[in-house]
Amino acid sequence: MCGIVGYIGKADAASVLINGLRRLEYRGYDSAGLAVLDDGQIVVAKAPGKVAKLNDRAHADWTPERFRRVTTGIAHTRWATHGPPTEVNAHPHLDQAGDIALVHNGIIENYRAVRARLESKGHHFYSETDTEVLAHLIGDCNKGDLFQAVCDALHQVEGTFGIAVLSAHEPDKIITARRGSPIVIGIGEGETIIASDASAILAHTQRVIYLDDNDIAVIKADSVDIRDLNNIPVTREIAELGFDAAAAEKGGFDHFMLKEIHEQPDSLGNAIRGRIDHNLGSSVLAGMGTSPRELAEISRVVLLGCGTSLHAGLVGEYAFEDLADIHAEVQQAAEFRYRNPILGNRDLVVAISQSGETADTLAAVREANQKGAFVMSLCNVVGSTIARETGRGVYLHAGPEISVASTKAFTCQVAVLLMMALKLGRGRRYSREDGIKLAREIESIPELVAKVILQNDRIAKIAADYTQNEHAFFIGRGPMYPVALEGALKLKEISYVHAEGYHAAELKHGPIALLEQGTPVIAIACDVPGKDKTLGNIEECRARGARILGIVTEGDHETAECMDDFITIPRCHPLVATIPAVVALQLFAYHVARLRGCEIDQPRNLAKSVTVE
Ligand code: AGP
Repeated sequence: MCGIVGYIGKADAASVLINGLRRLEYRGYDSAGLAVLDDGQIVVAKAPGKVAKLNDRAHADWTPERFRRVTTGIAHTRWATHGPPTEVNAHPHLDQAGDIALVHNGIIENYRAVRARLESKGHHFYSETDTEVLAHLIGDCNKGDLFQAVCDALHQVEGTFGIAVLSAHEPDKIITARRGSPIVIGIGEGETIIASDASAILAHTQRVIYLDDNDIAVIKADSVDIRDLNNIPVTREIAELGFDAAAAEKGGFDHFMLKEIHEQPDSLGNAIRGRIDHNLGSSVLAGMGTSPRELAEISRVVLLGCGTSLHAGLVGEYAFEDLADIHAEVQQAAEFRYRNPILGNRDLVVAISQSGETADTLAAVREANQKGAFVMSLCNVVGSTIARETGRGVYLHAGPEISVASTKAFTCQVAVLLMMALKLGRGRRYSREDGIKLAREIESIPELVAKVILQNDRIAKIAADYTQNEHAFFIGRGPMYPVALEGALKLKEISYVHAEGYHAAELKHGPIALLEQGTPVIAIACDVPGKDKTLGNIEECRARGARILGIVTEGDHETAECMDDFITIPRCHPLVATIPAVVALQLFAYHVARLRGCEIDQPRNLAKSVTVE
């Protein structure tokens, strides 16, 4: 996720900014930059890659005297969302005149329209970013009052922002504002520091102010003036941070995995925002780069992936067949190229990869391209190899996933696959009325997930009864079968329990021989088609001594009473229900692993991105 640091106060501001960016490196990024005010002008240094490279670049370009004397600046680590991670696309960005510098977290949804309007007024843009458009818009609104110019510009943009703005003409201040992307202000002695999260502030002060949405503040070395976007003063309390740097990186959570599980309402919001057309009951996925006619000619969808991404593809298989009446199949990416796949130009191949660097999936993409299929990707890392080699697709916007065990990327993959299937379906027999209903349900996914996360403490208590088991079975039917596979993988990879996922009907064809007294069976028995059959499979397991943990639909008390333990998920469309159901299993796996004392974020033998065959 992008990181922001701003500083105004004492000398050596450039070092303060770079050290602040170092505290934000854990968030994941792919380029960095800073802008300082020196001798009445804005001076910028940017570099792709790590903060260390930016530090080298600034020391190479600037004299030691400049480093020492500057007292005001802004800085940024960029997690690419619009445009690949290059120096040109790195922040800060300048306005047309070069007198205003901006760093920005978030996504400006209407940046294309604003850019076109500014271009018609003679503005020229160098980058592919939405942020540069906002910088030019602020410059265009500037009539000599930077605060008012920022207010006027922010009234014209849609989407999310956390920003810091400098002007060469008003060197005694920094303007900062937020909507949907956090900004925290540190109150020091004769210095003020702003950041996108507290870990960049800890070295200076424990006294902080958290901005609320639509707050805008004028920051000076010894004052903070907070207003709303209509220039009405607002009062925000000064809080004490009360935690150290290590805790701050994880946002106060014990592990990145737990932080990323809790981020899912936000990450899913980012994945879905701006991609639903409620009028047509369809989705808007510009990155697919396809016309309705091209989509109508597709006769088969082939979904490729590994591990968790493969499981997302399995949910997608059900979605494409249910919603678009189109033949869909999942292929294990590592196997794909060795089986000499039968592919043609009416096959849509979707490569699913959080990192966009998985060697097996990349090789499968190259094979699909070779066979003339219509290839696109579902990636989280903008500008990653798979994203670039497919040339089209949909980014997850989940933000960087630090923990090796994939959680928020999986749920965003499933959400995007549902939107893709809806888009294809609406080009076929899926009705506008059904599309409008499903589109509304997809948009409600963040709040459905938030309801499951509220059960975190209850799930932790349940997990305590399962920490001694060395074996576990996860079962489900329909689209809940891949959810069972994913739940088993989560438990396997972080708690080292031998967990297997099976189709609920499959146990009696052999695996049920493994059941003993107390063997855990985690059964996904939500109130969706096939539930009654699953209840029958549960009884088969219970008759052989299994202990049943059920994932059930809230209000379905009759089913809950069949379980030894249960976790509830909100009632929703069967395909949508896969997402809250898996979040319940993510939390279950996390707490079992935590109680077993396992290393959760970096499990033994595993890597976050498997870039070897
Ligand atoms: C999932 O928790 C694992 N980290 C692993 O299975 C992962 O999903 C797989 O290696 C694929 O990675 P990708 O999505 O980056 O391609």
